This record gives sequence, C-alpha cells and structure tokens, in this order.
Amino acid sequence: MTDDEGRYTFRTIKPGAYPWGNHFNAWRPNHIHSSLLGPSISTRLVIQMYFPGDPLLDLDPIYLGTPEGARERLISKFSMDVTEPDFSLGYVFDIALRGRNKTPMED
Ligand SMILES: [Fe+2]
Repeated sequence: MTDDEGRYTFRTIKPGAYPWGNHFNAWRPNHIHSSLLGPSISTRLVIQMYFPGDPLLDLDPIYLGTPEGARERLISKFSMDVTEPDFSLGYVFDIALRGRNKTPMED
C-alpha cells in the first residue's frame, strides 16, 4: 500500500541475473517485477524495475523493446537518502500511472 502521498517502500534481496532461453547465452538483467493492482484484476499493471549500470540492459530484448526515451524510466536510482547504514543499499523508483512521464507498462 502507498502512503497518503503515494510513496511506498519494501525490502528485498537484490535479484541476480538469470539465463533464459530467448537466444543463445541470453541473460535477463537484474530486475524486480511489480504488479500494481486497482479495484479489479483487469486493472493490474505489470512493471519491471531495473538497476542502474547493469551491463545486460543493452542486450535485453524486453528493455530494448521499450521505446527510446522511456527506457530510463524503468531504471531505479541509487540513493544514499534511503540507504541504511550497515544494512542495505537503497534505490528510488517512482511509478507514474499517467501523463507524459508515465512508466512503461507491460500490456
Ligand atoms: Fe523476471
């Protein structure tokens, strides 16, 4: 659930790259899938959040299938403001449901 200002947080283990059978020696970049649920299952939106600096991004057909100019909105930003000392790195990933800067969604 988001708070009154639409903010959210969660803790998880940073995922690793994994191989997939899309083509020879194909690997997915580190990413986290998110589902945003509205009032019904038909309003479910699916997003993949990537991590900055991942060398696999330039090889990933899903990332590259996102229109240029929108791809960067799928990459989280490392933030010392949300990094917790001696515990965890923090990333910020804003999701926009509408408007010019809408986050690209999977159809
Ligand atoms: Fe995945």
